[in-house]
Amino acid sequence: MFLFAIFLASALTLETTATPTATCPAEIGPQGVRIRVPPSLSLNPPSPSWTAPPVGWYFKPWDMIYASNPQYVSFRNLQYDPTAINPANPAGLVNDLTSFQLPGNDTVYTTYGVDTPDPRPGFSAVLQYAGTGIITGATSEYSIMAWGCDSTHTPYYVSYSTVTVLTATPAGIDIFSTNDNGPDAATAQALIAALRTITQPQLKALVATLTKMTQDGCRNGKPRVSNQNLIAILG
Ligand SMILES: *[C@@H]1O[C@H](CO)[C@@H](O)[C@H](O)[C@H]1NC(C)=O
Repeated sequence: MFLFAIFLASALTLETTATPTATCPAEIGPQGVRIRVPPSLSLNPPSPSWTAPPVGWYFKPWDMIYASNPQYVSFRNLQYDPTAINPANPAGLVNDLTSFQLPGNDTVYTTYGVDTPDPRPGFSAVLQYAGTGIITGATSEYSIMAWGCDSTHTPYYVSYSTVTVLTATPAGIDIFSTNDNGPDAATAQALIAALRTITQPQLKALVATLTKMTQDGCRNGKPRVSNQNLIAILG
């Protein structure tokens, strides 16, 4: 996931064919919360108790619920729609599509990039982002730090993104859910409590600034933004 503070000039609200499949790990809710430090920030091997999500697990329509990046706090109804570029190869390149609204205006703004899964051992669920269109040259690495389902079987995940120099986007931690209300309260509390146990200084500082995003329902019932059509428009 990647965002920036420059807005595309035109709104692109397009049809989608996304059909989410909710697959949950054996343990859900607060008991199922498992956090890892992103491999690029960890001097130790990955925690053996942390399991990466199944290939393609996070190809779902997500809503951003918490963010550490102050740039995002003025955004409304931020949605994230990652999908496999080649559906026959879900372990391959990923369409990275973010869309959001601003206060007082229902125009939907979008950003599009391509993610490459990191092939290094120990770097599962780490992706390298490359922007396209007016953000060509913007790059970021993002790592899934936690994933699972809340007590109602609603999927969530937490990711860490490195700084993006081109767009002056700072490193950040984000929490997503497939429900625009976010994970149920107990699971959200368990997630944030688990994040607060991290002692790595950079992550600790980001966790301290996690802020609830505005999801006001204005996009409910409207089509998700489509990747395929967006590619055609941005070239
Ligand atoms: C919303 O923003 C768009 C794009 O900047 C603009 O064309 C439109 O007039 C705005 N609508 C309102 C109601 O302000």
